[in-house]
Amino acid sequence: MSLIYALPSIVERLDLAKLFERAQPLEVELGSGDGSFLAEYARQNPEHNFIGVERLLGRLRKLDRKGQRAGLTNLRGVRLECAYFVQYLLPPGSVRALHIYFPDPWPKRKHRRRRLVNERFPALARQALQPGGRVYLRTDDPDYFEQMVRVFGAEPAFHSVDTPAELAAQLTDFEREFLARGIKTRHAAYQAGS
Ligand SMILES: C[S@@+](CC[C@H](N)C(=O)[O-])C[C@H]1O[C@@H](n2cnc3c(N)ncnc32)[C@H](O)[C@@H]1O
Repeated sequence: MSLIYALPSIVERLDLAKLFERAQPLEVELGSGDGSFLAEYARQNPEHNFIGVERLLGRLRKLDRKGQRAGLTNLRGVRLECAYFVQYLLPPGSVRALHIYFPDPWPKRKHRRRRLVNERFPALARQALQPGGRVYLRTDDPDYFEQMVRVFGAEPAFHSVDTPAELAAQLTDFEREFLARGIKTRHAAYQAGS
């Protein structure tokens, strides 16, 4: 069975019981790309459920293949725009962790407003997260990293925390490429108040 979830509606929130066999803590990767990180992380954490959100179908199909090959029942992929998904599809207070790794940096000044982690984003994340839920961020782009730290730093509902070493050790595809090319990557994490 395909792990790509065909949304029955894009105006009603997800019924998580329809996506997963077991009710367990939910983690979501926004912009999951080829799914290398998420398929492996879901395999290592069978006691949590995972959703990868990705707009490119070809990449979502790769996540699907990886998850099926590993026989995962705790992983699903959704094809949709990430910010919309967080704002309108995720049930409020339903998410234990949001993972956002190497989101498109939009380096040109006039394109920066297209960045996912912008001034609006912490409020969207706060709505989706459970009390004490976390947002994990990684980027290679110094300017985007500064923006991530600024927008979360300005949001009193979040405080900065360390990324657990075992999570940081789990590399994504883009991260592997950056590291192979000697490009420094930056990590940050924020926890919502309880
Ligand atoms: C640079 S790649 C990083 C992929 C993966 N996180 C990694 O680190 O290997 C960014 C991914 O996010 C997806 N993406 C970018 N903006 C998106 C959006 N607004 N909604 C959904 N997917 C998006 C792209 O298609 C791409 O697969």
